[in-house]
Amino acid sequence: MKLFIDTANLADIEEIAGWGVLSGATTNPTLLAQVEGDEDDIYRRICELVDGPVSAEVVADDVPTMVSEGRRLAAIDPRIVVKLPTSREGLGATSALAREGIRVNMTLCFTANQAILAASAGAAYVSPFIGRYDDINEDGLGHLAEIVEAFAASAFDTQVLAASVRTPVHVMEAARMGADVATIPPKVFHQMLHHPLTAAGIDQFNRDHAARLARKDA
Ligand code: G3P
Repeated sequence: MKLFIDTANLADIEEIAGWGVLSGATTNPTLLAQVEGDEDDIYRRICELVDGPVSAEVVADDVPTMVSEGRRLAAIDPRIVVKLPTSREGLGATSALAREGIRVNMTLCFTANQAILAASAGAAYVSPFIGRYDDINEDGLGHLAEIVEAFAASAFDTQVLAASVRTPVHVMEAARMGADVATIPPKVFHQMLHHPLTAAGIDQFNRDHAARLARKDA
């Protein structure tokens, strides 16, 4: 499973890109609203930092506008993937852009049937949301598992990009079930990494090393 980062915050992306674990990034209008600066410049910088697929979301309600905005976003950088909602209009725009060789990530996907439609429209990625199901006391991972199972059986080329990831458990379970990608908020990356026994072990090793050096110099 590849790891993408789900943010438009350049400082957070730069820090975690330094870990050497990122294969791409995703953004959305809510994440972009949390940062200042020119939208296209932000996308360009994210492409430089992750050097992989970067999802940039179209905000429009009709197919022609979705297609023209998608073309504009794709022209920013070859690594840009156009993000479109899993709606009637999103499907129409996805099939049009896919025919032009522009990669699309269909987002706000919540069911296997929506994901099957996204794949049939030629989407490069489909983003099933986990956390927003959990928010309404439903089983987000269960719905993701249905999609992963259906895609494995149908041999779709579309990659399953687990999204709306809220916890390290979401990441682990997405990997265990065979999702192709998980897009992860910066906070969850830090939660994935930290373990108190690792921190305590590093401290102990450093103390023991220092004690040995002190004895040697005595
Ligand atoms: O970017 C798409 C998805 O990851 C959004 O997550 O937490 O707003 O449901 P969230």
